[in-house]
Amino acid sequence: MDRARFISIGRWWRGPWGLKKSVEAVAVGVVLVAALSTSFGLVPQKKSCSACQFPAMYNFGDSNSDTGSFSATFYRLPSPYGYTFFGKPSGRFSDGRIIIDFIAQKLGFPFLSAYLNSIGANFHCGANFAIGASTIQPLDVRTFGDGYSPISLNVQLSQFAQFKARVNELFPRDERSYVKAGLPRAEDFSKALYTLDIGQNDLSAGLSWKTADQLLENVSSITAQLALTIEQLYQQGARVFWIHNTGPLGCLPSTLAYKMAEPGDLDQNGCLKRYNEVCQEFNRQLKERVLKLRAKLSEAVLTYVDIYAAKYTLISEAEKYGFTSPLAQCCGSYGDVPVRCGVKAIVNGTEVGGPCSNPSQHINWDGGHYSDAANEWLATRIMDGAFSDPPVSITEACHKTPQC
Ligand SMILES: *[C@@H]1O[C@H](CO)[C@@H](O)[C@H](O)[C@H]1NC(C)=O
Ligand SMILES: *[C@@H]1O[C@H](CO)[C@@H](O)[C@H](O)[C@H]1NC(C)=O
Repeated sequence: MDRARFISIGRWWRGPWGLKKSVEAVAVGVVLVAALSTSFGLVPQKKSCSACQFPAMYNFGDSNSDTGSFSATFYRLPSPYGYTFFGKPSGRFSDGRIIIDFIAQKLGFPFLSAYLNSIGANFHCGANFAIGASTIQPLDVRTFGDGYSPISLNVQLSQFAQFKARVNELFPRDERSYVKAGLPRAEDFSKALYTLDIGQNDLSAGLSWKTADQLLENVSSITAQLALTIEQLYQQGARVFWIHNTGPLGCLPSTLAYKMAEPGDLDQNGCLKRYNEVCQEFNRQLKERVLKLRAKLSEAVLTYVDIYAAKYTLISEAEKYGFTSPLAQCCGSYGDVPVRCGVKAIVNGTEVGGPCSNPSQHINWDGGHYSDAANEWLATRIMDGAFSDPPVSITEACHKTPQC
């Protein structure tokens, strides 16, 4: 079943190679009729943009988009992470793929290698600097003690700057094959897509010891730092940005288990209202900053993506999309006896810590992260522009005006 799923994705982004000749002929006919009617003005056409030819992509973020840096640096995520799609732990905080994997596939790239992964990595089509437990703000002693990653966004930016400087040094003189096949071309940095998905840990770290009201006072400086990083990437030559806001922290099973909620604290979907309000305020300010950056960075093209709305839609309409119990995790538990996903334990004579029997019907994988199936749903929705400002598809996100 995993294999079938992989193949169907492959077809979806590579085009219908498997079609029989007769089908192709019909398709050509349809295209001809469509082209003729367009040129005679029979069908009113919304002018569509040409697809962008991104040669590479670079991602910055936390566990929502880490493809292996955390596992390469701190400790390897245990089985059953990776269980559904890769068949073994892949460094992703999921039973399979994460949103960035679907984006890479859609753009025709292999899965992005994690920058810190020194085994089997290939950076020809870009690199992923995201790492689990990472924050926008540099860590202080308290957040370090709480287990957040010291590789905060400013460190990811330094890593990118060095990556770029060293690639520029090698090209075009160095003819060794690992340079040609394993690294991007120097001229590709300015044409690449730059994606960001970070902020959730700044909010969860803050909420672990501050009230929501206290944390709200710091949101402005957190979003300012994210905006500054975008500017610094722009100064490094980045032009096209795809910026995810932050998801509904108050709907994560891990949040719900640790916060003793009174009935009035929950919304109609069972999510913690106050937590979600902080996320929404973060997102409102982030969007405002993105709009300002559009004016300030004259050559930049910035797409703001409302991941919050996409995730919240999925959670509130779970059944409609084939998912059950949206607030229950598939692996591990935060119940009476908290057991982390992948940690084997015996509870009441039964071994727990393994995967549930139906991962593809679960939105949530391990309490803090989404399942392969949920990520596929989310990626499909956000990539076509339904949750973006402006509402462009990711394949057209390089165009300065959405109408072209
Ligand atoms: C958070 O806000 C408070 C109140 O404005 C301020 O004293 C504190 O320094 C801020 N903390 C950070 C990390 O910005
Ligand atoms: C373990 O069993 C006891 C007695 O049947 C029950 O009350 C308790 O909820 C069970 N704990 C878990 C985590 O299933």
